[in-house]
Amino acid sequence: MPAIILVGAQWGDEGKGKITDLLAAQVDVVARYGGGDNAGHTVVVRGERFALHLIPSGVLHPGTECILGSGMVINPARLVQELDGLTARGVDVSRVRVSSAAHLIMPWHLALDEAQEAARGGAQIGTTRRGIGPAYADKAARTGIRVGDMLDDKHLAATILARAEEKRPVLRAYGLPEPGVDAIILQYQEYAARLRPHIADTVRLVHQRLAEGKTILCEGAQGTLLDLDHGTYPYVTSSSPIAGGALTGLGIGPGHVSRVIGVAKAYSTRVGMGPFPTELTDDIGEQLVVIGGEYGTTTGRRRRAGWLDMVALRYAVQVNGITELALTKLDVLGAFPQIKVCVAYRCKGERLTDFPTDARTLALCEPEYETLPGWQSEISHVRSRQALPPAARAYVAYLEHRLGVPVRIISVGPERDETIVEARP
Ligand code: GDP
Ligand code: IMO
Ligand code: MG
Repeated sequence: MPAIILVGAQWGDEGKGKITDLLAAQVDVVARYGGGDNAGHTVVVRGERFALHLIPSGVLHPGTECILGSGMVINPARLVQELDGLTARGVDVSRVRVSSAAHLIMPWHLALDEAQEAARGGAQIGTTRRGIGPAYADKAARTGIRVGDMLDDKHLAATILARAEEKRPVLRAYGLPEPGVDAIILQYQEYAARLRPHIADTVRLVHQRLAEGKTILCEGAQGTLLDLDHGTYPYVTSSSPIAGGALTGLGIGPGHVSRVIGVAKAYSTRVGMGPFPTELTDDIGEQLVVIGGEYGTTTGRRRRAGWLDMVALRYAVQVNGITELALTKLDVLGAFPQIKVCVAYRCKGERLTDFPTDARTLALCEPEYETLPGWQSEISHVRSRQALPPAARAYVAYLEHRLGVPVRIISVGPERDETIVEARP
């Protein structure tokens, strides 16, 4: 009765969607455990591209049950849109279940996200402006509205009315207009009617499936370094993308977990603000963006790019308890005669090999690189590790040796089948 946790090992956009879709063929249930539609997970199947934001990336496999877990924040407008979009493309979404304990994103969360970013001036976080921070803040303050509140129209109306009342002074302080409560109630009652068939006690469902001997893949969103507790605070998201977040977000214990798969890009990217020691603002950085197609799935923003950061990755292995890695976008490095890997930081005259999570310290860190030979060839057609160019094989082996965890999946292109999967012992 295993659960497999799949977690982003960097700053998000590591290719979690692609790897989840790949593994979904072998599991019974795929469950998102945190975040909301700030996530953008891209899956490409036979040339068809799907951008998933709330619905787990297992939905493209007929028969796989999909769960939106209790740790998530749900914008119902977006969820309805995503369900309709998939239906229009012939995907059966009747297998999608949403936790009654997940929190709802309300119109005022979106307005506040926008206003708070504006108020930060030069110290912006660069949020996705999806209302994520304000929704999680209400959850923690116990002033949130949950998906389960949509099960009864009268109760929903009363709850929205009460919460909107509490928000009035906050909105006023930011110079935002009063919420049009009647319209919001009607709108959310419409969403409720649409979503009701999908609302469930997902904790009970997950445990039923585990008891039946089924396998659950817990799909992470965002990434380790965006974790509220363990990331580069305050340049983080407001949830727990790390493996621990899968346990709280879905209501399972650590004893159920058989594997923790860390998804890491063969280089680094970050979208939004915050320290990024290996960021390249030169031609190489530009090439990584262009060749890697590094534009956000959710906001279309250009991602910042740089070489792989082993200091950060070693930290991700630790805080998640990663048992194996899925290395993505190795094909992108095929353009470079030499490949650099950051093995330590120089900071205030000191050499650091442990990742400092304090953003101010991290901002002062200069990367110390080791240089490896590139392979300068196209590898997207390769389907076995042995068939990779020797320098590409050496790059993967170098990472395994340095990190002390095996790389079991190597992704060499966005398509589902552009993947090298190692047999597990
Ligand atoms: P996620 O948020 O972790 O699911 O990642 P995103 O989907 O936001 O970003 C990853 C991008 O890289 C998507 O456009 C994928 O289609 C693409 N991608 C995934 N794996 C590979 C790969 O191995 N090679 C290339 N070239 N693109 C990939
Ligand atoms: P996936 O699941 C990359 C970043 C934002 C911003 C910070 C806070 O596709 O990997 P938020 O809107 O969450 O309050 O923004 O977190 N961020 C992501 N970056 N991938 C994501 O998701 C992200 N989700 C949030 O850019 O820096
Ligand atoms: Mg993404």
